[in-house]
Amino acid sequence: MNIRPMLESDVEAVFLLEQECFPDPWSRKSIRDTLQEECSCMLVAEDNGVLCGYLNSTYLFEELNLNRIAVSPNFRRRQAGVSLLRALFAFCGEHGLTRLMLEVRESNLPARRLYESLGFVTLGERKNFYQNPPETGVIMEKILEESL
Ligand SMILES: CC(C)(COP(=O)(O)OP(=O)(O)OC[C@H]1O[C@@H](n2cnc3c(N)ncnc32)[C@H](O)[C@@H]1OP(=O)(O)O)[C@@H](O)C(=O)NCCC(=O)NCCS
Repeated sequence: MNIRPMLESDVEAVFLLEQECFPDPWSRKSIRDTLQEECSCMLVAEDNGVLCGYLNSTYLFEELNLNRIAVSPNFRRRQAGVSLLRALFAFCGEHGLTRLMLEVRESNLPARRLYESLGFVTLGERKNFYQNPPETGVIMEKILEESL
């Protein structure tokens, strides 16, 4: 599994992955616009040259928000999710980002287990945070040590 920064040429494959993994996929334009934002970190996971996972995050001051992480169903449980997040932690270390935030559907146990395994803790819940179907959002946080 190889992790690298997302490129403009990955937009189509990431768009297909979004469609494969989410009921409310991001559009090509939203993906491209976020990639072009100065304060975004977009990473992809490749297996033998096949794009099989991606991570989409944006940051402001010292806080980063994880917008998306997705791994293609055929490639799950092979540590792609962990590898993408570890690469994100390294990016945060290099950019002075110390607080990582995310929201996750209450019923999304694979994602919640993944985040917990990497030290994210639950801060609280937001009722009806998600639509189609409506669902509680669980807010999670991870504090990274600032490197001296
Ligand atoms: C969540 C997701 C990204 C995990 O990707 P993955 O590459 O399969 O995860 P990993 O192989 O790195 O898993 C690491 C750990 O997370 C936990 N985990 C992952 N999937 C799990 C599952 N289905 N059930 C229970 N625990 C799970 C386990 O602790 C796992 O370690 P283990 O395999 O040694 O037991 C993937 O399931 C996915 O794309 N889901 C759909 C999109 C989504 O819901 N994204 C999150 C919201 S933005």
